[in-house]
Amino acid sequence: MRTSAIIAIVALAGLINTPLQAADAAAGASAYNAKGCVGCHGAAGKQPIANYPAIGGKPADFISAELNKFRSGERNNPVMMPMAAGLSDADVANLAAYLAAQ
Ligand code: HEC
Repeated sequence: MRTSAIIAIVALAGLINTPLQAADAAAGASAYNAKGCVGCHGAAGKQPIANYPAIGGKPADFISAELNKFRSGERNNPVMMPMAAGLSDADVANLAAYLAAQ
């Protein structure tokens, strides 16, 4: 009984540890335009309007971490929170891969 429980836990941990599908920069490029990011952060994230941040060329880890903070509300910004709320985990990974490659 105890042994089978341990085996089950190890098996579950293996499932959880399975890496997510690799980030897709091409899908990130489409999402960047389709989801309206380009409207504020500019072409390739490099020509933002007003004093909005340039995000093209920033590290993927940084982009995904900040998007997830907007999603969770940890980073509280009334402009970006609704933008990030509609993103899936895959969207975040793809957008980060695309932007980091700029
Ligand atoms: C309506 C304008 C607007 C749109 C559309 C928009 N953003 Fe933003 N974005 C901002 C502003 C303003 C900030 C700065 C927020 C702050 O000061 O916390 C920001 C910050 C960010 C940051 C953090 C940058 C940093 O240097 O800290 C990332 C990453 C980001 N946006 C990605 C995106 C993505 C991806 C999209 C599309 C899903 C998007 N944004 C759509 C205005 C916008």
